[in-house]
Amino acid sequence: MTKVLVATEKPFAPVAVEGIKKEIEAAGFELALLEKYTEKAQLLDAVKDVDALIIRSDKVTAEVLDAAKNLKIVVRAGAGYDNVDLEAATAHNVVVMNTPGQNSNAVAELVFGMLVYAVRNFYNGKAGTELKGKKLGILAFGQVGRNVARIAAGFGMDIYAYDAFCPADAIEAAGVHAVASQAELFKTCDIVSLHIPATAETKQSINYDLCSTLKKGAIIINTARKEVIDEAGLIKLMEEREDLKYITDIMPDANDEFASKFEGRYFSTPKKMGAQTAEANINAGIAAAKQIVGFIKEGITKFQVNK
Ligand code: 3PG
Repeated sequence: MTKVLVATEKPFAPVAVEGIKKEIEAAGFELALLEKYTEKAQLLDAVKDVDALIIRSDKVTAEVLDAAKNLKIVVRAGAGYDNVDLEAATAHNVVVMNTPGQNSNAVAELVFGMLVYAVRNFYNGKAGTELKGKKLGILAFGQVGRNVARIAAGFGMDIYAYDAFCPADAIEAAGVHAVASQAELFKTCDIVSLHIPATAETKQSINYDLCSTLKKGAIIINTARKEVIDEAGLIKLMEEREDLKYITDIMPDANDEFASKFEGRYFSTPKKMGAQTAEANINAGIAAAKQIVGFIKEGITKFQVNK
């Protein structure tokens, strides 16, 4: 019998696991669960006999692929798949997919939860500022970026975006000002919200030089990936400029340094919370289950990312 493993160090909401189970069992497959695991050895052991794997930010390395002798497909229930070694997967004849868009509203809503917290001085009692009328810069106009723009309009923000891969007219069609470059976005906006994936080009791209052009009192909010930040560069700049704030949903490697040096100007969630809603878990988890069934039964490879 086809065996599907859900391996999630940060578990889905129980209601999402129920939904995944239903899909998998309706297809005549068997579901196994490995939640909240703490050791790589647990994952290596759990994948030994599975045909398909559903993960979140869980790392699927060459070692995991070596251990998973029967594995045919990995679906990352979510958008970013930088946690999967795509080359190794291809070499092992394993199809890798993501579930784009399924958790993007949840991430976009968290952007505003965190922004309100930041502009109201982390609720310390002192008068803060409002989002209305402020210039918001959205870096990358994908599914999350578009949802951020939609919600920002409700706050009455003046919305700008830059995306190296999305034409300006598509951005303008969404009622957002398109700017010509990342540099222009940083110069123009009061708040910059990061939605770029972690790739060879973007890693450490949010660096000292780029951020030093930010306006007085600017905020960078990161619900994307920690790897896109040049942490040493940002720390240096925040030491020089006491007006800047950094708010993130992905704890930096230098979290302790940020937290001790920039009290009142820095906040990180203890665990990535962007996609952590019942709705997002249901959407992404069930999409992943359906994609596995479609692939195993009919060979459907839509959303494959290692073609
Ligand atoms: C994603 O890439 O979909 C988000 O970063 C969510 O990641 P998570 O499933 O680990 O919360």
